[in-house]
Amino acid sequence: MTENQVSVIIPTFNESENICNVLDLIKEHLPRINLEAIVVDDNSPDGTGKIVEDYVKIKGNEEYPVSVIHRKTKSGLSSAILDGLKKSNGDTIVVMDSDLSHPPQIIPKMLETLRKTQCDIVVASRYVAGGAIQGWPFKRKLMSKIATKIAKKGLGINSDDPMSGFFVFRKKITEGLKFDAIGYKMLLELLVKANGVKVEEVPYTFTDRKKGSSKLDTSTIIDYCKSVWKLYRYGRQVRKTEKRVSVRFLSKAARFFTVGASGLGVNYLASLLFSSSLDMWYLHATILGIVFSITSNFVLNKYWTFEDRDFAPKKTAIQYGKFAGFSSIGALVQLGMVYYLVDGFSLSYPVALVLAVGTAAFSNFVLNKKWTFRE
Ligand code: GDD
Repeated sequence: MTENQVSVIIPTFNESENICNVLDLIKEHLPRINLEAIVVDDNSPDGTGKIVEDYVKIKGNEEYPVSVIHRKTKSGLSSAILDGLKKSNGDTIVVMDSDLSHPPQIIPKMLETLRKTQCDIVVASRYVAGGAIQGWPFKRKLMSKIATKIAKKGLGINSDDPMSGFFVFRKKITEGLKFDAIGYKMLLELLVKANGVKVEEVPYTFTDRKKGSSKLDTSTIIDYCKSVWKLYRYGRQVRKTEKRVSVRFLSKAARFFTVGASGLGVNYLASLLFSSSLDMWYLHATILGIVFSITSNFVLNKYWTFEDRDFAPKKTAIQYGKFAGFSSIGALVQLGMVYYLVDGFSLSYPVALVLAVGTAAFSNFVLNKKWTFRE
């Protein structure tokens, strides 16, 4: 991958009347840029591929490398873009039609936006302020609007023109992505799969082609539906995976807090029971309350919070030792606090106990979570 090189990918099918013009205009509007153009032709019956080969022979390749990928049959716009991407050398990719409906004169602005905003994708947009469509009948405009709405609402796309066939992106954002490349909607797939990338839009006027004809047909519309459905399922899968991770994380934390809370109860009740019913000295009663809560916390955290059902004696003893060891810091805090609050501040024992048990439980929680049950 060459830094600061721009690769322009131009898929063609029966564009013999347009392609040379497009190649000329690209060069004219990007004179000082390290540039290459890759035409991806699907064995066009009108000889587009051969015309580009002749163009290269006549113009020479040194100042402005132009290459052609010849594919055997008409295999779709998106897959043509992907094949162009594989062959590209630049770190910045421009994708555009070869019928002059996408004005090459706005490429410099798109590249400048990419550089200045440090974004990852720049979409040439018909649907932001300043953008427009010229030459399309009402039916085609309506179809485009509906398709755009479906993509934005259904797939949560962060662009006003995800159907655009004219866009610039940093090649590195495609690393590791697997594309389905169905039909026309390469940008849509990129926007969904390169999740979290920064997108900017540059307005432009789409002017319907003057020469040749659109290749959009019923199968393209069916492909669009397939593509949206696949992308919807893809997005759902990603969301599900993310949710599963956070639900698991939350439930683990929630279990730990619940155990902590139950430990508070065990500690408090056991201490009160020993001090009042068995008439024990309050400090002895507090120590026993601590031992009881440490044990019940340990068993619950091991079995329930961390779902560790392995109660092999040695392993369990070591875990209990760690748990008790770390918890003893909390116990010392509890003991010290109770003593200080009852003897020093003449606080009633039940109130002092609530404060001390709360503080001790917190330190228990933090230390044991981090060290004893780490997976
Ligand atoms: N290699 C290859 N293979 N190129 C193709 C194929 C194919 O199967 N199908 C179309 N192309 C090329 C055309 O030669 C043209 O350069 C470009 O892809 C766009 O095809 P058109 O058929 O002219 O598209 P359109 O003008 O109807 O649709 C436009 O608007 C859509 C948004 O609504 C294009 O800009 C689309 O890219 C855009 O998504």
